[in-house]
Amino acid sequence: MQSNAVRQAALLYLIILLLQGSLAIDKHDFRTCAQTPFCREHRRAECSHEKYVLAADPIINPTNVTGTIIRIGTPDVSFPFSVAFHGEGVVHLLINETTAIDAPPRVQAAGVLNATIPAPVPISVVFRDSDHLIVGPPRTSARVRIGLHPFSVHVSHQGESLLSINRHGGLYMKPSTNTPAPSSFNGFQDPNPHGDTAVSLDVDYPDQFTLTGLPEHTDGLFLSHTLAGEPYRFYNTDAFRYETNSRMALYASFPVVNAISDSGHASTFLWMNPSETWVDVRQKPENNAQIRGRGSALSWVSETGLIDVFIAFGSTPAESSESLMSIMGAPTVPPLWSLGYHQSRWNYRDESDVRDVIGRFESHNLPLDTIWLDIEYTDGKRYFTWDEAKFPDPAQLQGDIRAAGRRLVTIVDPHIKVTGAQGVYPMWDAFEAAGAWIMDGATPILPAGEGGGGVDPEYSGDPEAEEGDPRGYIITTTDNDGDTDHNDISPSPPFIGDCWPGASQYPDFIDPDVKATWASFIANNITNTTLGDWTWLWNDMNEPSVFAGPEGVMPRHARHLSGVEHRAVHNLYGLHHAIATHAGLVARRPDERPFLLTRAAFPGVHRYAAVWTGDNTASWTHLGATVPMLLGLGATGTPWVGADVGGFFDDPSPEMLVRWYQVGTMMPFFRGHAHLDTKRREPWLFGDDITALIRNALHIRYSLLPLIYSEFIKAGQVGSPILRPLIYDFFDDRETHSIDTQATIGPLLFAPVVRPSATHIDVYLPNGSSWYQFSIRDELGQPLTGGQWHHLPVTLSTLPIFQKGGTVFWTKDTLRHTTVAMVRDPYTMRVALDDAVDPADRRAEGELAVMGSGPNDGVLATSVVIEASSSPSARFVLNNSPSGPSSGLGSLEVGRIVILGLKACSKIWVAGGEQLDFTLDEAAAMVTVRRPGVAIDEQWSILIK
Ligand code: NOJ
Repeated sequence: MQSNAVRQAALLYLIILLLQGSLAIDKHDFRTCAQTPFCREHRRAECSHEKYVLAADPIINPTNVTGTIIRIGTPDVSFPFSVAFHGEGVVHLLINETTAIDAPPRVQAAGVLNATIPAPVPISVVFRDSDHLIVGPPRTSARVRIGLHPFSVHVSHQGESLLSINRHGGLYMKPSTNTPAPSSFNGFQDPNPHGDTAVSLDVDYPDQFTLTGLPEHTDGLFLSHTLAGEPYRFYNTDAFRYETNSRMALYASFPVVNAISDSGHASTFLWMNPSETWVDVRQKPENNAQIRGRGSALSWVSETGLIDVFIAFGSTPAESSESLMSIMGAPTVPPLWSLGYHQSRWNYRDESDVRDVIGRFESHNLPLDTIWLDIEYTDGKRYFTWDEAKFPDPAQLQGDIRAAGRRLVTIVDPHIKVTGAQGVYPMWDAFEAAGAWIMDGATPILPAGEGGGGVDPEYSGDPEAEEGDPRGYIITTTDNDGDTDHNDISPSPPFIGDCWPGASQYPDFIDPDVKATWASFIANNITNTTLGDWTWLWNDMNEPSVFAGPEGVMPRHARHLSGVEHRAVHNLYGLHHAIATHAGLVARRPDERPFLLTRAAFPGVHRYAAVWTGDNTASWTHLGATVPMLLGLGATGTPWVGADVGGFFDDPSPEMLVRWYQVGTMMPFFRGHAHLDTKRREPWLFGDDITALIRNALHIRYSLLPLIYSEFIKAGQVGSPILRPLIYDFFDDRETHSIDTQATIGPLLFAPVVRPSATHIDVYLPNGSSWYQFSIRDELGQPLTGGQWHHLPVTLSTLPIFQKGGTVFWTKDTLRHTTVAMVRDPYTMRVALDDAVDPADRRAEGELAVMGSGPNDGVLATSVVIEASSSPSARFVLNNSPSGPSSGLGSLEVGRIVILGLKACSKIWVAGGEQLDFTLDEAAAMVTVRRPGVAIDEQWSILIK
């Protein structure tokens, strides 16, 4: 029996590997809208829904408007609603259902909003007649107009319309009936015991708004017209080998849309519903069809739940980001080391392989901060254990990694190997003792054997055949104590699915007690013999992936400990896995900001973890899709993102690998990673030239770390994205409203080359300033004019980066092996003067933020301005004005000042001090000052003649 089980588990594993190795995603494994009953129904019925009207006059309370809407024709079911302002820049609309039927309540998405959000602010009535009610916080220009017959909600700010809800009659809430509505897909039955409870809504945007978002998808940053194809789908799925130019669901769901108008007014719409969701985008014919996403109407539908939406807004995109942050919380500020380069592979074979890879990074003079271990480090895919044959001395290995100033990251997936008896696998014991497993729910419905949904055709679907007899000894008890905790839910065996370890159980991370169990396991069981203090974590397969499950994930009818069906919260699972892991890491090292990477995600994840885009492919189209994908995630509130550099599947050509690394330099999270079956592709394996090109890309990344870290610190204060679409900062330049292949970080614009054999690249530089080419070696051309496209020559070594005129930023230019080794290096301050017509008006400014690695460390911020000097003896003055603590931050010395845009210079001196040596390159209009003897944490002025 046992050997049979082991054979079957091995076979399943092999087949999954083979499936993962196949050349493209099998679309038939995933439902289309037409194969999804509520989506099909919604598309058919759209705009023909009966109207909703108010049952009685709305009630105007001090801080919200409430009321009840009913559907014409079915007045017996009522839908209470409320509209409130959470601060001046956030509107919340909630619509629920009141029903006499004994149906499960519609659940609100937990963990998305910050623990505390601003309380609703007082509102007053601005206008009222028999059809409309207009309210807003007093002394602000934010307004909500509520249409009473039919019910609609229109939001405006400073007199500009932001969006209208239910303008097209798309509001719908299917009344609960508690009547089963079974369906099947690919041989998987969904008993859907409580029946169809779908919710939908339409949101219309005025013509002058350009819409971006709805990540994670590969369909570009700007929203595309969907009515001729599939809607955008949100259903966290293990979509390995996913396609580009597709709106299929991937690993993470961010049902969020950003809208930016030509005047800069901006809003972010959050559809806070964690059940399966589809979004149709209708580009209105009156709008220019060439500009994707402009002035579109969106139609949202979710399988169940509430209509629970937040609209954050402001008069600029930055103001809108701040409004969003007020309810979603600040993005976590990653530790500096984690912004360096991460080297991963499924898998580094054993301890000597790991040591060898690290050693070669050193001997090839390639910076590396973090080495990763994938699932093969474990003993039989039991996370938090080591395969002792491959890793005989993990403590020593981790100690050596630490001693060299590097970190280790290991994978910890959510599925727990079914172990069968206490005392074998502590992690299973802990969750078993806590009664923490997601339950089977309805009678387990196993695949009919057609092999749909990524199912191994050889797999019986019977977990008993996998490992002993798990159902025989796992009993979820009821305590019948009369309270409402989850133990009162009728007993059901735990859900047993299959993933890397074979038969597995899944902790219910959405349950607070289970989160605490997981966190304390992490905090207490990580020691130097398992995972040491400098080892951080990676949460994968947390959609949650279930190999033989419908669409490769957990069945919808599985039941959470609260009694809620999995369908109601599916897209939340990965977020809560990450929240629990993050809590464990914080409890283990309260003095350090943690590092965690997660694959599945939902809004809210930005407070806890980095997110990567899963199993991409080493292809030019995937490389091309990367920047738009990362931009979409950042612009909707999740800035700490990256993609597998090199492409997870297949083997990149050396040329493609170099281009991937160049794109990596601008990824907020920068990791090379590859599938088990790919050829080894460490940077030194393709000859010295390629190694040098990759070294150059890594050198650029490391030199930019002060800027990238500073942007993250700023994001933690104001919620801005790190990698930004051009439209975010240059909304008044209409050309930027369709560019998603270039991006900015602070004052730098990146235009990476993502095509093979490129000899030229077309780069758009936004108007309003000139742009200086950035080079760590100061090989500069003439500044380029903004507001036009430039056709520029490139070679394989070219990564086009430009600094906007009128800005200042900081780099650290010496190539080192780790971020730790850079701590004592001085900063280079890089000034690019603007091109004001009157030379006396020329100026530049910038800010740098630096902080330590602790969660409560203060921020040292310095602000630099260069402008015309009021002293007759100097033309310019460069002032440095710091604030905040500076201890423990390493060297704060300014080692070099590079000033671009100065064609003449006769003298430079520190006010009240020494004259400074400098060089002037007249052709490049560049002045370089070496060792000015100033530091970023000191107040000083430098005068320039
Ligand atoms: C799937 C992940 O997406 C991939 O990055 C990882 O290497 C494999 N699981 C194995 O853990």
